[in-house]
Amino acid sequence: MNILVTGGTGYIGSHTSVALIEAGHEIVVADNLCNSKASTIDRIKEITGKEVTFYQVDVTGEEALDRLFSKHHFDGVIHFAGLKAVGESVEKPLLYYYNNTVSTMVLSKFCLKNKVKKFIFSSSATVYGDNKVPFVETMELLPTTNPYGETKAISERILKDVANVNPDFEVSILRYFNPVGAHESGLIGEAPTGIPNNIMPYITQVAKGKLEKLKIFGNDYPTVDGTGVRDYIHVMDLAEGHVVALEHLTPGVHIYNLGTGHGASVLQLVHTFEEANGVKIPYEIVGRRPGDIAESYADVSKAERELGWTTKRDIYQMCRDAWNFERNFKE
Ligand code: NAD
Ligand code: WQD
Repeated sequence: MNILVTGGTGYIGSHTSVALIEAGHEIVVADNLCNSKASTIDRIKEITGKEVTFYQVDVTGEEALDRLFSKHHFDGVIHFAGLKAVGESVEKPLLYYYNNTVSTMVLSKFCLKNKVKKFIFSSSATVYGDNKVPFVETMELLPTTNPYGETKAISERILKDVANVNPDFEVSILRYFNPVGAHESGLIGEAPTGIPNNIMPYITQVAKGKLEKLKIFGNDYPTVDGTGVRDYIHVMDLAEGHVVALEHLTPGVHIYNLGTGHGASVLQLVHTFEEANGVKIPYEIVGRRPGDIAESYADVSKAERELGWTTKRDIYQMCRDAWNFERNFKE
């Protein structure tokens, strides 16, 4: 299939681009580079040995999309492009609501206009809010504490309403848990600018000596050791989940959790990282981070049953690949 990958130079989009090419699909990448670099395209080419067409465009802009959809025939769109910093979304709500929901509206409009039937959307486990674990796709979504989470819930609703009146439209909403790790080549990975918000890049930067120590946000949660529990998933397992979801699409809206189904605490993650890589991660316990929940992990039985998809890489490999990327990474 010929697939438009929005946000394809970003963290998850670049790994999925590799997985799509390796599965025999052709891709066109569209990204405005607000949180990634064009050089990622060269890395994708280096890993796959295939050419990749890239456009630097903002996918909220109708004129640019008009040109793109006139030039190429797509069988499907995988829509990764979005802003994802939870804290920044509180500071700049309009930027987040505009970017993340308008892009979904405009892209689905162009799909319908150009008879592009398949649409995959990057949603997040954050839409479950403080539901009881494990999170199941049928649960009522609970309000999140930040605009970022709301943009995901709103985008899901938009896609459901659009599909409802366009019975040929095939939509897959993928709710990611906590993607970590990197491609085994070490050529692509997660390279946030500034101080990382997420735990794995923070840990790898401590390991590298760029940051002094990890601050663990709270050890008084009702969890195995008091620290927060999350369902970490290797980004290549997540990437392969997109390929399978694409290849299984049928008319209507299909929602899948993409996680491992298992939670790990912050302390368990730190100790696994130390063991897997033979490095020490100094840390201190500080207060809870506002908006954090105690536990988040997926019920993955629907993706297993309907897509035949399960994760293959364990938390040791996530830690090894994350460190391999950070060690090789040059600013
Ligand atoms: P990322 O920031 O690395 O990638 C997103 C890409 O989208 C970037 O390359 C950015 O330049 C681009 N982009 C943003 N707005 C754009 C626009 N208007 N037009 C064109 N390009 C634009 O983030 P990621 O971690 O790869 O996340 C991909 C998607 O998955 C996002 O929608 C994110 O919200 C969602 N998601 C991420 C996580 C996570 O923990 N990383 C978890 C759940 C969901
Ligand atoms: C994981 C655990 C922290 C940093 C966020 C978004 C979510 C999704 C994934 C996009 C928690 C603890 C973290 C640190 C720490 N993104 N932690 N010290 O919060 O589960 O999810 O990213 O969709 O929407 O909210 O991920 O990596 O920030 O935190 O102790 O310096 O690590 O408290 O328990 P989170 P995270």
